[in-house]
Amino acid sequence: MNLNDLKQKHANAEKLAMLTCYDFSSAKIMNRSAVDMILVGDSAAMVMHGENATLPMDIERMRDHVRAVVKGAPDKFIIADMPFLSFRQSIDAGMQAVKTLMQAGAHAVKLEAVDGHEELIQHIVQSGIPVMGHVGLTPQFINQFGGFKVQGKDRVSYDKIRADALKLQKLGCFSVVLECVPSELAQQITAETDLITIGIGAGSQVDGQVLVMHDMLGYPSAFNPKFVRHYLDVSNLFERAFNQYVEDVKKGDFPADKESY
Ligand code: KIV
Ligand code: NA
Repeated sequence: MNLNDLKQKHANAEKLAMLTCYDFSSAKIMNRSAVDMILVGDSAAMVMHGENATLPMDIERMRDHVRAVVKGAPDKFIIADMPFLSFRQSIDAGMQAVKTLMQAGAHAVKLEAVDGHEELIQHIVQSGIPVMGHVGLTPQFINQFGGFKVQGKDRVSYDKIRADALKLQKLGCFSVVLECVPSELAQQITAETDLITIGIGAGSQVDGQVLVMHDMLGYPSAFNPKFVRHYLDVSNLFERAFNQYVEDVKKGDFPADKESY
């Protein structure tokens, strides 16, 4: 799967399905699935490292997650998140971060918002690297937003998000994530741009969807936004397996002769 394949699917009006992934073993399973793209998101800070926001993520941890996913999913198009502030310091520093992620094996990078890093986005694109934008509820702005809240509900915010998406297209991005915005806004951006629009909490009138793998598999989560659909209940499956193992050990049932040398 490469960028041309994705563009072809988009041109054929085929919906695209993206999931996040952060580790080698999950990536091996995802590689066997029909998932179109994998996002190594900075949501890893929360679901892999237990942080309560994405701000603590840094480029070294992102690099290690990207490497693991690239090894596990060699057949997938892999997009890596630019972590908090890595694209806000200078073109040089931003390009160093991009280099780290691309040399770890990513095929594209994603960064949040657009104001103030237009030049960097252009520089990345002109360096031959596909860029995915991200507007709406951009989690790195949580302190400005005052929490994980739907964006674009009032006129000013609606128009701003729409303008940002148009700007991302002008800067040469191939795609944009629309996170937690009214369906009407997502639909409008999808109609008005050639960007591959990927929604999360943005309704169905977009070109594709993304979910955090841990959310859709039903890992324990402190908060459960209504845009998540649970396809599995791994919390209970894992807990049952863990307890069965404990029981077998306590009873002396495990290991059996065939599990011993
Ligand atoms: O980090 C992430 O998981 C993301 C998606 C929710 C779009 O940015
Ligand atoms: Na992210």
